[in-house]
Amino acid sequence: MPELYYIDTMGCQMNERDSETIAGVLQSLGLRPTDDPQVARVAILNTCAVREKPEHKVFSKLGDWAKLKRARPELVIGVCGCVAQVMADEIRARAPYVDLILGPRNLSALRAGVERALSDDRCAICVTDPDELPDDHQPAARTPGVSAFVNVTYGCDNFCAYCVVPYARGREVSRPAGDILAEVQEVVAEGYREVTLLGQNVNSYRDPHSGAGFPDLLRAVGAVEGLWRLRFTTSHPKDCSESLLRAMAGTPAACEHLHLPIQAGADEVLARMGRGYTYAHYKSLVDLAREIVPGLAVTTDVMVGFPGETEEQFERTLAAFAEIRFDQAFMFKYSDRPGTAAEAMPEKVPEPVKQSRLQRLVALQNEIGRAVNAAQEGQVFEVLVEGRDGKSPEKWRGRTRGNKLMVFSGGQDRAGKLVAVRAVRGFLWGYLGEEDAMA
Ligand code: 5AD
Ligand code: SF4
Repeated sequence: MPELYYIDTMGCQMNERDSETIAGVLQSLGLRPTDDPQVARVAILNTCAVREKPEHKVFSKLGDWAKLKRARPELVIGVCGCVAQVMADEIRARAPYVDLILGPRNLSALRAGVERALSDDRCAICVTDPDELPDDHQPAARTPGVSAFVNVTYGCDNFCAYCVVPYARGREVSRPAGDILAEVQEVVAEGYREVTLLGQNVNSYRDPHSGAGFPDLLRAVGAVEGLWRLRFTTSHPKDCSESLLRAMAGTPAACEHLHLPIQAGADEVLARMGRGYTYAHYKSLVDLAREIVPGLAVTTDVMVGFPGETEEQFERTLAAFAEIRFDQAFMFKYSDRPGTAAEAMPEKVPEPVKQSRLQRLVALQNEIGRAVNAAQEGQVFEVLVEGRDGKSPEKWRGRTRGNKLMVFSGGQDRAGKLVAVRAVRGFLWGYLGEEDAMA
């Protein structure tokens, strides 16, 4: 029987991609995956530090794993990801039974670390160098499906006042375009049909050899034969240029979806956050994007209760949402992150006020999201089918180019195919549809 590994992944798509590398390295050591930590020889927690809540989860999960390790001292426990980077000392103090602590840029140390931990009952390895250049030639065991993630930049140089990412993932570096293209070709050859290019701020991408920017990269990747769909995330409004929008419009594989975090609607709050744009600029960018890329879906991230946010400033976030009408929004309560500029700001907004602002914003956005999808009833969408729907297995499930979920009834063997589907009913979560016989 081969030994087993278990990975618990929190956080964003970068972490999902990193977990594929963790899985690939563990498999190259002869381990096999399990979804039960009770039987694992190696258990890895890939952590997120972006807000307080996921960070609390790390310590409660490690508490559970401590019990497993008491029963089976041979269990190797690793903590990777953003909490490992920014709280390594606290992990060592509060969870001394952890064998490996690796920052998100230090997965090159994973293989040797696991090998040592497997052969030595008490080894403690901690590598947290936020400026190491990640080794992107390590093996990856990708999640099976139609869609694959490919990194284009690592780290972030923006230092938004609330954000832990520059501390957790280090200074921004771009991968050579040749390496990115080679990885895209590789995943397409493996059968993936959609690629999402990942970076904290993809639009500041620069090929280290030629100096070419993200629009050129998008065109080059879009030309890879066999790639049907191309997505990218995340775009920062200060670097999202007209030339990017034109490259999207001129690249058939590039999907009509832009994820453009707004964060707040009031200029004073945006300035205190250090975002580098005003609401008027943001709004004109969305207008331009919708004009250049017809049928574009626009999604966003936003937070309420940033230090000093007044009721009137919050109402400008509500007004921005009412005016722009996002297809979808990820909405958060601001939470203090150690070491960030906002942590030291006065005038923290009390928790009940944050809670009520979040509820008001979510209520508004739910209404808008539902109305946007309902207004598209009757339209035919190109859907990339992921497989059978979990809840109603007689139906298929996939995504539109706008990244909306479509659950639909249709013919046989649709998994992995592009199917034309008529949206019959629009909901907050997406659409219920029927395969379009006329297509
Ligand atoms: N508190 C709350 N939300 C945050 N985000 C980033 N940092 C914080 C924080 N300190 C949100 C932003 C970002 C998304 C990934 O998480 O909206 O775009
Ligand atoms: Fe979480 Fe940000 Fe790290 Fe992603 S980059 S895992 S969202 S802290």
